[in-house]
Amino acid sequence: MKVFLIGCGDIARHHGRAVVRLGGSITGCFDISETNAKIVSEEFGCPIAAYDEIESYMPGSDYAVISTPPTKRLDYVEMVLRHHVPLYLEKPVSVTMEDAKKLKELAEKYDAKIMVGFAHYYRPAYRKMLELVKTGMFGEPVDIAFSRLSPGFGFHAKNMGASWRTDPDLACGMTVESVSHDWKLITAMAGGFDTISCNYTGTLASVPRFDNHTSISIRLRNGAIGTIAASWACDIPTCSRAYIGTKGSIFLTGEGMFEFTNLTWKTEDMPYAESIRFNDSYDHATGDVIFYAHESFQECLREGRPFETPLADGISALIYSLAAKRSSEEQITVKVPDWGDISAV
Ligand SMILES: NC(=O)c1ccc[n+]([C@@H]2O[C@H](COP(=O)([O-])OP(=O)(O)OC[C@H]3O[C@@H](n4cnc5c(N)ncnc54)[C@H](O)[C@@H]3O)[C@@H](O)[C@H]2O)c1
Repeated sequence: MKVFLIGCGDIARHHGRAVVRLGGSITGCFDISETNAKIVSEEFGCPIAAYDEIESYMPGSDYAVISTPPTKRLDYVEMVLRHHVPLYLEKPVSVTMEDAKKLKELAEKYDAKIMVGFAHYYRPAYRKMLELVKTGMFGEPVDIAFSRLSPGFGFHAKNMGASWRTDPDLACGMTVESVSHDWKLITAMAGGFDTISCNYTGTLASVPRFDNHTSISIRLRNGAIGTIAASWACDIPTCSRAYIGTKGSIFLTGEGMFEFTNLTWKTEDMPYAESIRFNDSYDHATGDVIFYAHESFQECLREGRPFETPLADGISALIYSLAAKRSSEEQITVKVPDWGDISAV
């Protein structure tokens, strides 16, 4: 398929490579940074569009990818949707409910096809975990325990200029940006949340809006409980995502915040735990991770199927993230709507 890239930063290059690997091509690209646009243009042999030329590329594109910082998107979203071109929108879809409401209105106005880039949901190791949970072999969820602690953006105040994440004007912090993935991974296995409580903190004095540690406690609608412990500033990279059910438990673990290496499970009927080892690395094969998401996106477009990570998921993730932040700031437990219920937005 032919794809236009809006935003030419780090992840955009992986989007471009995924499209090419699927037999497609990049029709053109846009970025406010001439340097970044040039890097993409040279790698994919595509023209660089000026801002007011973006729309002229839409009729020749099967879809567009927006991977600009989440506060800088609404104008591009309308440029794409106005031409009824499907949109792959990076997470988090926005950082405020005002922008989320505008996204929802634009999607309704143009009857849009929008998939949100919750790429970890499409990875083989997580898909296997989800498949096993869905068989019911572990029973009903009791405790969902997620922990992902590792170095990240702004770690020890280094690597500060390289990303919008630590730019004081653009920063939104990890509770909004990165935990958005975990909301999707948890709700797909165990259902929507009832309440969220959280404490977050940031260790970069120069960017107070950048939280890089968050500690979240949840209650699900089905009565299960859960925790997410996340850090972008921990010296030992490790992660563990666990579903503990009434009949058994399954853990996805690795040495990095999104390293999906070992899947281990045991039910009450099994004498020993079983494991599968995956080469499903984000740190070493980011391109593969993004590839699976594009593969699913393109299949859904071809077959006219709904996306598994639609805009409603992206808005639900923002609702949960902002509830977590409010919980921390006001020291309260916050009630949230069911996953996918964005009727109040
Ligand atoms: N799904 C995933 O696994 C995943 C992984 C990484 C990043 N992301 C998401 O992708 C988005 C981009 O992240 P990144 O790591 O590529 O960041 P990045 O800083 O590497 O790239 C952002 C790009 O946007 C450009 N930009 C900034 N303001 C702009 C504007 N107003 N108009 C056009 N371009 C503008 C910058 O010049 C830069 O090239 C974020 O929303 C991030 O959360 C998703």
